Amino acid sequence: MSLRPVQDLVDAAVRALTVGAQRPFAPRDELIRGIDLIRDLAFDGTPEPDNQPIVDRHLHELEVNDPLAAALLAALRTATHLLNWKDMHNSSYGEEPGMEHFCDNFSYTALAEPRRWAKGISVPSTKVGLTFTLQGPKTYYPDHAHKAVEIYYLIAGKGLWKRGGEPWVERHPGEIILHTAGMRHAMQTGDQPLISMAVWISDVDSPIAVVRT
Ligand SMILES: [Fe+2]
Repeated sequence: MSLRPVQDLVDAAVRALTVGAQRPFAPRDELIRGIDLIRDLAFDGTPEPDNQPIVDRHLHELEVNDPLAAALLAALRTATHLLNWKDMHNSSYGEEPGMEHFCDNFSYTALAEPRRWAKGISVPSTKVGLTFTLQGPKTYYPDHAHKAVEIYYLIAGKGLWKRGGEPWVERHPGEIILHTAGMRHAMQTGDQPLISMAVWISDVDSPIAVVRT
């Protein structure tokens, strides 16, 4: 089975982040590091595709105006039959109290991640994490934090975003959001789902802690 769609997805991600790095106030150093790390990924695994119901429901319904985000969304749709979308009930979130709705309405798929989680075409890596996330409508992703420095790129849909102690902000396709090491962050969707890309550029083995106040 050709893995070309997966490589095309990475190429679309590199293009989107490269243009993003040129914008005023972009976290340029982190973006350049992320671009360098993901453009070198080489895919030679055997696909173990798994689609979650939430992905089937929402991956194909959105339209995007931003051309680079739209290209990334198209590449994700084309590659999804090769990707292993995770069932969050089997993740650490599934063990947290009050996360049933979240686990029913969120999924992610990885192209690079620590070896102990890597499955299918996902590249085992100690240097970079590359994931795509889908958060269903009316779903709260509660405050969480990790040591890994994380770059988010919003691909489709919209949602409210909370970063550190900042107020909630509505975010749209094409926007880039940096989470520095240990910074807590949360996302809330409204009527639309939210599709994003997340790039971890340090401490890819660090655990994710849900922050309860
Ligand atoms: Fe995060």
